[in-house]
Amino acid sequence: MATLPKVVGRVRDLRARVAEFRAEGARVALVPTMGALHAGHVALAEKARELAQRTVVSIFVNPTQFAPHEDFSQYPRSLEADLYKLADVGVDLVYAPTPTEMYPAGFVTRIAVGGPSEGLETDFRPHFFGGVATVVGKLFIQCAPDYAMFGEKDYQQLKVVTRLSRDLDLGVEVVGLPTIREEDGLALSSRNAYLDEEQRTIAPVIYTALSRAADAIRAGTAPQAAVSVARGMIEALGLKVDYVAARNADTLAPLKEGPEAGREPIRLLAAAWLGETRLIDNIPV
Ligand code: PAF
Repeated sequence: MATLPKVVGRVRDLRARVAEFRAEGARVALVPTMGALHAGHVALAEKARELAQRTVVSIFVNPTQFAPHEDFSQYPRSLEADLYKLADVGVDLVYAPTPTEMYPAGFVTRIAVGGPSEGLETDFRPHFFGGVATVVGKLFIQCAPDYAMFGEKDYQQLKVVTRLSRDLDLGVEVVGLPTIREEDGLALSSRNAYLDEEQRTIAPVIYTALSRAADAIRAGTAPQAAVSVARGMIEALGLKVDYVAARNADTLAPLKEGPEAGREPIRLLAAAWLGETRLIDNIPV
């Protein structure tokens, strides 16, 4: 059986281990996670191992990206099972800080974001990207990796952290990886664990609806019309839609109209509630 990766919980121990990796001449890749690891995270860790000689995975359920009414306390936590998954991939180090290590008493500083964070998730979870940017900024500074891996499943997050690393000169190359899906198209997510059996059979509708909309746009349907059909298809199965949107795939700005219409790369993004579970997904056109 593969050896479990070493786990550190203190910033100073993380820095000491990373300094040893650097002394070996290793490049370092970081995979930031909130744990409850699934095949999507494992794919990120595998890619990290390809890019760098040393891989660090952080596991931290970040309180600042949850609103008080959200699922912070309920969010699945499974450190031991996570470590076994990471051992199979050959991850070198797991950084699992406590909330007080990350946010010591008196902590007040926040990273404010704009650009790709505007709209979509922010319309429904206004606290979210400030919390993500603050913790990811801290992780980048604490670990100082060469690369950091993020899944395209959280596409808006990927764009926000890419911008963050550039804007604050954090020197981390943010690498995005395609979404890993179940056979029926459902995007892997730690929150899928909340779905009951019936909900699990319904959940792939988001991917199916987005895929049909992408096909329709490729065949010449106007993005707004395609998106509204997708929304109807998702709602018809009883989900409560937060948004289904077509955006510029690079900037996430709304699509241009008039003479410039149809010339930009498009990404379709959706978020919807299935019972008490909020699902998000997105695909390229
Ligand atoms: O995508 C996630 O799991 C989290 O938002 C992240 C990037 C680890 C920050 O807490």
